[in-house]
Amino acid sequence: MKLIKQLDIVLLLLRCILSFNFIENINSSPNLPCLSSIEGPVIYPDDIRFQSLIIDYNIRVNYTPSVLIYAINEADVIKAVKCAVNSQNGIIARSGGHSNEKYGLGGRNDTIVLDVTFINDITVYKDHRNRNVAKIGAGNRLGNVYNKLNQEGFFIPAGSCPSVGIAGHALGGGYGFYGREYGLACDNIISMNMVDAKGNLLENIESSNHYFDLFFALRGAGGGSYGIVTHFLFEIHPIPERVTYMSLEFNAAQVQQLIKAFNEAEINPRLENKTTLRMKLEKKRSILKLSIIGLYLGNRKRAEAEIDKLLTKTETTHEPKIKPILLEYVEQTFFESVETLATSSEPPSPLQSKYEVVSPVHNIFKVKTFLVKQGEGLTRKAIDELVKFLNEVPCDTSATFELWGGKINHRDDTSSFIHRDVLYCIILTSETSKEQSTKCVDKINDFGRYFQSKFTSYYSYQNFIDRDLDDWETSVVTEDHENTCKGHMDTLMPRVML
Ligand SMILES: Cc1cc2nc3c(=O)[nH]c(=O)nc-3n(C[C@H](O)[C@H](O)[C@H](O)COP(=O)(O)OP(=O)(O)OC[C@H]3O[C@@H](n4cnc5c(N)ncnc54)[C@H](O)[C@@H]3O)c2cc1C
Ligand SMILES: *[C@@H]1O[C@H](CO)[C@@H](O)[C@H](O)[C@H]1NC(C)=O
Ligand SMILES: *[C@@H]1O[C@H](CO)[C@@H](O)[C@H](O)[C@H]1NC(C)=O
Repeated sequence: MKLIKQLDIVLLLLRCILSFNFIENINSSPNLPCLSSIEGPVIYPDDIRFQSLIIDYNIRVNYTPSVLIYAINEADVIKAVKCAVNSQNGIIARSGGHSNEKYGLGGRNDTIVLDVTFINDITVYKDHRNRNVAKIGAGNRLGNVYNKLNQEGFFIPAGSCPSVGIAGHALGGGYGFYGREYGLACDNIISMNMVDAKGNLLENIESSNHYFDLFFALRGAGGGSYGIVTHFLFEIHPIPERVTYMSLEFNAAQVQQLIKAFNEAEINPRLENKTTLRMKLEKKRSILKLSIIGLYLGNRKRAEAEIDKLLTKTETTHEPKIKPILLEYVEQTFFESVETLATSSEPPSPLQSKYEVVSPVHNIFKVKTFLVKQGEGLTRKAIDELVKFLNEVPCDTSATFELWGGKINHRDDTSSFIHRDVLYCIILTSETSKEQSTKCVDKINDFGRYFQSKFTSYYSYQNFIDRDLDDWETSVVTEDHENTCKGHMDTLMPRVML
């Protein structure tokens, strides 16, 4: 429970930092009088708390908002949007602040940032159709969501990094170790409340009412585009009784064989949807490492059979079975796996500072993603080029292969998430120092352009937003997307806010 407790503590800390604002409105420069009736803290740049509250996860790029508003209810969101519209300012929502390009701060200077951290209620109940559901405030972090739902015996499929915000995450898809069996986070949204660009609160945005087009658009096209979501209603699932965490290490020279096995993950014999694997090829201090972590939603015996399936795949082609250097299975409870995966996603820091909003432990990095389609796994040549790049790039860089497929590939005309034919998503991450940042970013961008044009699909994953893509408008969402939403176009927030 350690990790999750710390999440709560930081939230408490954030409350403390902000609390005296409730008692005594000392906002030094009420530049925008129309914000004065907002109940939550409204913090301007000349406030001593301001700087520490705008440090988000990736500190490679930094922006300064014109004002930071912590809404405590939907009425605050409405007031803030109306004020922004009337004063002709851009306004953007921030949930967990994990946007790789800082779009939670607007991706530029002088935006009004509406932070939803304090809209963080979670209520579990049965709906009128007897489904188990949870109403989840948009300010919750994934760690809180797993923790609260687990106490009631439930979960939603989502990512493994506990400090990621539920809103940005679920609006752009949201994959994790449960996705192949239960779908993406966005697939499990039943309904939403959202404040639109005119400051109207739209309640119960669902597939079966006149908001169906907005429902479609919000489920998977990426956050920050259509309005400010205040609450989600999620379908929740009973937690699996036992799960098995797997950790494997290989000799980096086995990378060709291992990626070949990944290429064949969904063909005879296919891996179960209950098996999710994350393979990582990383260069750290000039040394290449190859490893896999994974989760099987069942007991250890069956997990072992799945790994065996993967590692014997190349046998048919007269190649020897791939032998790991290290192989570990840990059968555990569902929640133990949430905690194990959390620490493998983010290396624990001494302070375990999960809440970047208030604590100064962050990363400087650039991420690019490549979606590889079913039946079109990386070729030998592509793998050679990738290894060559990793060896040459002057900063610590990794390529993570997230196995998608299973229910993630279930197409559904009530979701705008278009990547439904993906075998794996490659996440290329360069961690840099401030000094090396420009050099590394240029290198990874150049390589990305080449690699994508030659070896992978045209598409990238919108939740790892990448402002250096040449044509991001079409590479992460569908072109006809806006047409589909025509019915509500007049009420939608324009993309220019970004
Ligand atoms: C360390 C790390 C690990 C990650 N792991 C995974 C993973 O396992 N799986 C995965 O799918 N993704 C993962 N991601 C990506 C993550 O899902 C996205 O970055 C997501 O957008 C973050 O959401 P956020 O609310 O934390 O970020 P924010 O920066 O607050 O918001 C991101 C975007 O969503 C918008 N937004 C935020 N709140 C709202 C709202 N209430 N209404 C409307 N729009 C809103 C913002 O305006 C912004 O455009 C990871 C990212 C990081 C940095
Ligand atoms: C944003 O503002 C900061 C100072 O507040 C400045 O250093 C930076 O250059 C600005 N960025 C852009 C893109 O204008
Ligand atoms: C795995 O997922 C696929 C895609 O949604 C589905 O067709 C298949 O039935 C699932 N398999 C099992 C055993 O549930």
